[in-house]
Amino acid sequence: MCPSTVADTLLTRKLFLTERLRLNCYNSRQMFKIGDVGIDPPLVLAPVAGHTDTLFRQAIKQLGGCGLVVSELVSTEGMTRHQERTLHLTRFDESERPISLQVFGSDPDRMAESARIVEEMGADIVDINLGCPVKKVVKQGGGSNLLRDLPLLRRIFKAVRGAIRAPLTVKIRSGWDRDSINAVEVLKLAEDCGIQGIAVHGRTRCDMFRGRADWSVIARVKENALIPVMGNGDVCSPEDAERMFRETGVDGVMIGRGVLSNPWLIRQCADYLSSGTAKSVTLADKAEFMMTFLGRVRHRLPEPVALGKMKKSGGCLSKGIPGGARLRERLNSARTVDEFLSSLSDFLSDLVPRLPARDAQLAESLKPRG
Ligand SMILES: Cc1cc2nc3c(=O)[nH]c(=O)nc-3n(C[C@H](O)[C@H](O)[C@H](O)COP(=O)(O)O)c2cc1C
Repeated sequence: MCPSTVADTLLTRKLFLTERLRLNCYNSRQMFKIGDVGIDPPLVLAPVAGHTDTLFRQAIKQLGGCGLVVSELVSTEGMTRHQERTLHLTRFDESERPISLQVFGSDPDRMAESARIVEEMGADIVDINLGCPVKKVVKQGGGSNLLRDLPLLRRIFKAVRGAIRAPLTVKIRSGWDRDSINAVEVLKLAEDCGIQGIAVHGRTRCDMFRGRADWSVIARVKENALIPVMGNGDVCSPEDAERMFRETGVDGVMIGRGVLSNPWLIRQCADYLSSGTAKSVTLADKAEFMMTFLGRVRHRLPEPVALGKMKKSGGCLSKGIPGGARLRERLNSARTVDEFLSSLSDFLSDLVPRLPARDAQLAESLKPRG
C-alpha cells in the first residue's frame, strides 16, 4: 500500500473512532426514573412562576424533547384554605404528563396536607420547593429559608413522606449563602427521609439570580447521591446541556429561563444529545409560535389576566427578534388583547413576509370570545 493510502486509511479510521466516541457520549444521556416515573428524555422544564403555567407547559411538550414538567410553586396556605387562585395554579392537562406539582410552605402538617391534595389531583410526582429566594416566601419560613433550618426540614420531609405514596422530590439551591453551602447535607437528609429525587440550582439564596450558577456544587451532590439528581442553572444552549451532563454527571438537566425566550431549547437539547446536531429556530418558527401561543392565551384566560400574561410571555419571546425592543414597547402599551394581537401581527408581517398559518391563527385569535 502506498504511504498516502495508509495515511488516508488511518485518518478515516481516526475520524470513525472520534465520531463513534462522540455519539457514544451523546447516547449515554439516557432516561432516568424518579420512583416508578420515567423521565425520557432526561430533560426537565423548570418551574418559573408567572410563566410556566399549564398553557406554556403544553406548548413546550408539543414541541417535544421534554421528559418532565414542573408546576409553578403553590402555597400550602392557599391550598389548605382551598383558595381558588392557588388551586388554579395546580391545573394541568393530560398531555403534560408526567407532571410534578410543587408546593412550598414551612408548617409540616400543612405541607403534608397540600401534598395529599396535589397527589389526589393526579400529580405524578410531588416536589417541595426549597429554593425560592423571594422575601415574602422566605419571611414565612418557606422556600430557601428551610435550607438553614435542617431540624424543621427533617420534620417536613417526614410529614410529607408519610402523607403520600407518589414519588417525592425536592428542589434546592446550593445553600443559604456562600459561607453555608450545604447541598450535600440536605441531600443526605432527604435520602434519609425517603425522598426520591433532587434538583439542584447552583446558586445560593443570597446570590438570588446574580453571577453564574456554580455547577461544582451540583457535581458534589451527584457524587454523593443515591437518588437521581437534576442539575439546574444557566443552561441556555444545547452545548450547555451537554456540558452540564459531562461536567457534573447528573441524571437530568432542568432548564428554566432559557426556554422562556426560546421555547425550542429543550427540543434542541434532546436532538443535540442524541445526534450531535440541533435544528436552529427561524424567525418564521418564532413568529408562528408567538401567534399561536399568545392567541391561545387570549382565548383561554379572562381578558385582564390574558393581557398581563401575553405581555409577560410576549416580552420574553420577543428577545432575539430584530427590533425586539420596539416590539416590546408596542406590546406593553396595548390596552386590550385585540390591540396586543394586532400590534404583534403587524410587526411580524413586516418581518416575515410569508408566514404560513399566521392568517388562520390570526383570524382564530381575533374571533370574539364565545
Ligand atoms: C421569575 C422566576 C420564577 C421562578 N419560579 C420558581 C418556582 O415557582 N419554583 C422553583 O422551584 N423555582 C422557580 N424559579 C427558579 C427556576 O426554576 C430555576 O431554578 C432558575 O431560574 C435557574 O435556572 P435557569 O438558569 O435555567 O433559569 C423561578 C425563577 C424565576 C426567574
